[in-house]
Amino acid sequence: MSSAPVKYSPSVETPLENETAAITGLRDTLHSINETTLRDGGHRLRSVHAKSHALLSGEMEILANLPPALAQGLFAKPGRHAVVMRISTNPGDILPDDVSLPRGMALKVADVEGDRLSGSEGQTTQDFLMVDGPAFGAADAAAFLKTVKTVAKTTDKAPGAKQVFSAAMRGLEQVIEAFGGESGTVKALGGHPMTHPLGDAYFSQTAFRYGDFIAKFSLQPVSPELINLHQAPLDVRGKPNGLRDGMIEYFATHEGEWDFCVQLCTDRETMPIEDASVVWPTDECPYVPVARVRIPRQSAWSQQLSGEIDEKVAFNPWQGLEAHRPLGSVNRARQASYEMSVDFRKAGYGCPMHHA
Ligand code: HEM
Repeated sequence: MSSAPVKYSPSVETPLENETAAITGLRDTLHSINETTLRDGGHRLRSVHAKSHALLSGEMEILANLPPALAQGLFAKPGRHAVVMRISTNPGDILPDDVSLPRGMALKVADVEGDRLSGSEGQTTQDFLMVDGPAFGAADAAAFLKTVKTVAKTTDKAPGAKQVFSAAMRGLEQVIEAFGGESGTVKALGGHPMTHPLGDAYFSQTAFRYGDFIAKFSLQPVSPELINLHQAPLDVRGKPNGLRDGMIEYFATHEGEWDFCVQLCTDRETMPIEDASVVWPTDECPYVPVARVRIPRQSAWSQQLSGEIDEKVAFNPWQGLEAHRPLGSVNRARQASYEMSVDFRKAGYGCPMHHA
């Protein structure tokens, strides 16, 4: 690490004046997606990340002998915790997999100890939500609201049009990447390369309190079989659930191991907390492992698991320890939206949502 980590204090967050309106706008626009998909498909789905591709159980081992700056919060004490992992793609409607989109990975770590974030008292888990890119597509809540309004307008029952559009966007992304670039917007609109989701690294994109410090998180493949899948093509053309099939096939014969990594904030200027669209430079402070996540061989997806996890479990960055408080505009905006989406889903099942 090149310089000392920045100390956490509540003053590291600096909300903008217009934030409350953007937070309410996000919640209401995402609610309109819930209503549209319920009307079209008859199911109460998540507003985003509705489709799961793998629903997995395993464990997280917190590494022993971490240096003091890394032995913080959940990672202060070595030990093993059960985890549930849900791999998804980001839209609020269930699309065929040849509409290729950013992938999400949600991790729920069981039996964690410590002061809880307000709103998650009484629960005992720490949730981490990640996507397969190092930074968020929008700087803050107000910027994200503009994107979500566009997405809400395209949430409908026209997957055929989305498949054609997605193929065009993938072509465009290849052109951009050939010229050395990468476009988060093109990827989010269906231009994500058709690669195997298990070969990707996943990132929290936003900043979190890390005990006395501030950090971003990442899950990075370490099993040779996962590393082999990095950017490996997965041809899902004509296979509506091709991503799911790929993961069922992988976990039937292999286990998966990832490093759970932390990147400490060492510079408030180059590693901003309020602007989630900035990739924190790894040459200033790299991601370093603080835990190992192991997922043994298993049946990676079934209708029964979907009933249990897709329908009755909620992952939310605000479910966790005060020591891992979500920070910055995008994270503050998430609280109301996740609560709304979970309340909407709960209303259909007539039973409590399992946060723990
Ligand atoms: C203002 C920004 C954001 C808003 C408003 C938002 C909103 C939501 C909502 C409403 C859900 C569905 C919750 C449910 O019904 O259980 C969700 C799920 C999810 N979000 Fe976000 N989100 C935001 C930013 C992010 C970021 C920065 C990441 C990670 C890099 C992320 C990753 C995920 C993932 C992985 C899921 C699926 C969780 C699962 O498997 O159940 N989101 N988001």
